[in-house]
Amino acid sequence: MIDIEYEDFLAGNPAYSRTAAIDELRARDYSRLDRHAQVYLDYTGSGLYGQSQVDRHMELLREGIYGNPHSSNPSSQASTLLVDKARSRVLEYFNAASDEYVVVFTENASGALKLVGESYPFAGEGAGAAGAGRFLLTFDNHNSVNGIREFARTRGADVVYVPVELPDLRVSPQRIEEELRARPSAGSSLFAFPAQSNFSSVRHPLEWIAKAKALGWDVLLDAAAFAPTNVLDLGLYKPDFVALSFYKMFGYPTGIGALIARREALARLRRPWFAGGTITVASVQGDRYYLSEGAAGFEDGTVDFLGLPAVAIGLDHLSRIGVGLVHERVDALTGWLLQRLMSMRHSSGRPLARVYGPVDNRDRGGAIALNFLDSRGASIDHRLIEAEANTRGISLRTGCFCNPGAGEIALGISRDELATCFTKPSHAKRLTIDDFRDCIDGKSTGAVRISLGIASDFGDVRAFVDFARGLLDR
Ligand SMILES: Cc1ncc(COP(=O)(O)O)c(C=O)c1O
Repeated sequence: MIDIEYEDFLAGNPAYSRTAAIDELRARDYSRLDRHAQVYLDYTGSGLYGQSQVDRHMELLREGIYGNPHSSNPSSQASTLLVDKARSRVLEYFNAASDEYVVVFTENASGALKLVGESYPFAGEGAGAAGAGRFLLTFDNHNSVNGIREFARTRGADVVYVPVELPDLRVSPQRIEEELRARPSAGSSLFAFPAQSNFSSVRHPLEWIAKAKALGWDVLLDAAAFAPTNVLDLGLYKPDFVALSFYKMFGYPTGIGALIARREALARLRRPWFAGGTITVASVQGDRYYLSEGAAGFEDGTVDFLGLPAVAIGLDHLSRIGVGLVHERVDALTGWLLQRLMSMRHSSGRPLARVYGPVDNRDRGGAIALNFLDSRGASIDHRLIEAEANTRGISLRTGCFCNPGAGEIALGISRDELATCFTKPSHAKRLTIDDFRDCIDGKSTGAVRISLGIASDFGDVRAFVDFARGLLDR
């Protein structure tokens, strides 16, 4: 039987046919998705692992004897070899020269961001608050980047946010230019932005990196949402710090991320403490410690030496498929989804969906944040949508996705409303999400997010469009 909808999609997206290898991969390595009749649409939350990754990792564990890498016995050497291999594989994958970049393994992207936040020399050595620099960041940032502002303020730096603008939730190039030119002359200053938004999926220009560096900024690139479906070439773009989580790229292992740092920039960080594994010498009676150089000085305790081989396996997996191919496929599927969602209307003539961010696939990734509207134009509570999606085996994400800056602009929540809410005496110490909802006068505090990735296919996006059709004329 001819599948007219699919044929139409293929005719409109000739590039999609070139990604047929991913259909074969899905049948082979991700067959559990179809076995369980599940529709997975939360790749920005977590990527999915292929069966072959797990098999290779388990085989390695079954065969080897691996001890704590902080020794030099045979089992320790075997682990060190695997950890070194994972480290060099990460550099190779991102085309980062080993004399320029170093890989620090962390527990996730947030761990990498915290390492930078807690160690960045905003105030410089002995400079005091008067000599502190600035922390510049876009409204569009994950909370694990927003949280760095607390470290910055403690060190006397000022914090400057550049807003995103409606309707596309992008940043004005003029505003960025102005703010970059306004770098304070004292102290060190850090500019942080996501390569791809986890809210709107906007891809912010990587050209900002060279511009900011030429104006004296250090640059922190959050690549957590970008790396799973895009090539990040550190031979071409050279931020000082890159943060990412590997489970977002290829699903497994969880609990491992990386800070990929320029050696020179890493050497300027000042760690607030030392720990097992981070020092060459520490003395109790002498009350001194000497931090190890490079990555070792930033990896507290024992790294996940059994999990790290799975990072190398995952990178091999993604390289074999080709992240460029995943990108092409996700791009085509996202474009189709956007067209469908934007064209659906209730019989009242009102639109079914309000998409936050770009509604075409120029410079955006494969996540779509939206709210469904009823036939009178009111938002349908995203919690209700999630509950209904659950009954159909559709995994999607709801809420504000830990990105309050983009969310506030998208949902029209103003600075004044927030100030009124946060200064209520009853909200001095605690504020639950329900209190917050009441506080901003019933406006939606969140949205629905669907996101595509490594194993997505046409069936997945069609299932979501069918689900959306079921909401017509509510
Ligand atoms: C853009 C972005 N940055 C940072 C993070 C934090 O990642 P993790 O929770 O793995 O630390 C996420 C997670 O969704 C993200 O999407």
